[in-house]
Amino acid sequence: MGDLSKQPGRLRPAPESFLSEAQVKAVAAGRRDFLRKSFIAAGAALAAPVAARAGEGDPAILNLPDWSKTLGMPVAMNPYGQPSKYESQLLRRESPGLTRVGQASVSFTPLQGLFGIITPSGLHFERHHQGWHDVDPAVHRLMINASDPAFLKQPKVYTMDDLMRLPSVSRIHFIECGANTGLEWGNVAVPTVQYTHGMLSCSEFTGVPLRLLLEDCGVDYKKARFVLAEGADGSSMTRTIPMEMVENGEVFVAYGMNGEMLRPENGYPLRLVVPGVQGVSWVKWLRRIEVGDKPWATKDEAVHYIDLMPDGLHRQYTSIQECKSVITTPSGGQRLLEKGFYNVSGIAWSGRGKITRVDVSTDGGINWQPARIEGPVQNKALTRFNMNWVWDGKPAMLQSRAVDETGYVQPSYGQLRAVRGSKSIYHNNAIQTWKVAESGEISNVQVL
Ligand code: MTE
Repeated sequence: MGDLSKQPGRLRPAPESFLSEAQVKAVAAGRRDFLRKSFIAAGAALAAPVAARAGEGDPAILNLPDWSKTLGMPVAMNPYGQPSKYESQLLRRESPGLTRVGQASVSFTPLQGLFGIITPSGLHFERHHQGWHDVDPAVHRLMINASDPAFLKQPKVYTMDDLMRLPSVSRIHFIECGANTGLEWGNVAVPTVQYTHGMLSCSEFTGVPLRLLLEDCGVDYKKARFVLAEGADGSSMTRTIPMEMVENGEVFVAYGMNGEMLRPENGYPLRLVVPGVQGVSWVKWLRRIEVGDKPWATKDEAVHYIDLMPDGLHRQYTSIQECKSVITTPSGGQRLLEKGFYNVSGIAWSGRGKITRVDVSTDGGINWQPARIEGPVQNKALTRFNMNWVWDGKPAMLQSRAVDETGYVQPSYGQLRAVRGSKSIYHNNAIQTWKVAESGEISNVQVL
């Protein structure tokens, strides 16, 4: 797109001091959506030279606010720090389009308001089949056992204290529910990125490699080729995991998330981390690991979390989350108020390793240009990308397309449906399109 300094509306979304009086008032009122739009508009508004704006007498920079003239709050007002009150609308939300069945529900991460790759713990999406519990770590136990002593010499029960004495690892990984973007299979144009892609989060998890525990119990890898993970909640959540994933050291039992203990909703005090694999296998409130020689075919793998294919057969055990990406700003539900410069920003991820490339199109996939990948790029973690864009005020179609280290290219809807049909719920990794109308309104559309 050439030299940015020569483009009109060339600056990045501006700090609050560049907002108009009306925008400052809206920010003060804590209206997050308006703030987002204002930031976007402010980026464009900067086409006018900054000195000229000062000449107009912008009160936000000319008047000294109270906080510059008075004492601030003392330390430890908030012994556990909270976001600013102006950010109060950035929340996990339940989709208005989904029915809650008992306690079985999902709250979505507000991807449109996040930066970088780490999801703040309080905004990590939640998916529970039977509600969550704040489990007492003093009575929580993890048992490792087998139906046949040939698989495991010595079944053991670990307390949390036992586990936290063992050698630990800390790794950044994404977790995505297999049903993420599921409504789009049925052509339901869910309005915002929070609801299309928000069953996705990325955290630094800390815990003990499962391999270490199995070896402590005397596993025989030649005979025991699978493990079954079981949760302590009422959903009897049980999932089979192939032993190769455990043997290579990637699977671990985690107690830490983003530098502190797991949050109760996310499995406190212990959950399984299965990098690259759909969220359902990341069993929360983990209480038991059984080793065996074949998959268990439990309800959550034989009946649920299976893919209905065009020939009417179901695919089972399709656990790996394939390469995928989405533009998070600008995105559905937001509005560009003026033409000019915008930072197009999004995330890419792959259950098969690292992201190597992301291309962005502003014309619905006719032309593509490489986005800037923000490093360091991590294995099976979210990867942030950005691209400079000058909106000319005409209709546009924003898309991103990711490539992972295996060379796999994220498919279009046409390519995905050619293989998978249209009756699935799970594993939709197609290219997302955000349509920008002349009015600046952004909506969700499907491009084949
Ligand atoms: N583990 C137990 N014990 N119970 C559950 O309901 N839900 C699973 C998985 N582990 C679940 C569970 C599903 S479907 C997903 S997508 C992830 O947890 C969601 O993890 P999160 O709530 O930490 O985002």
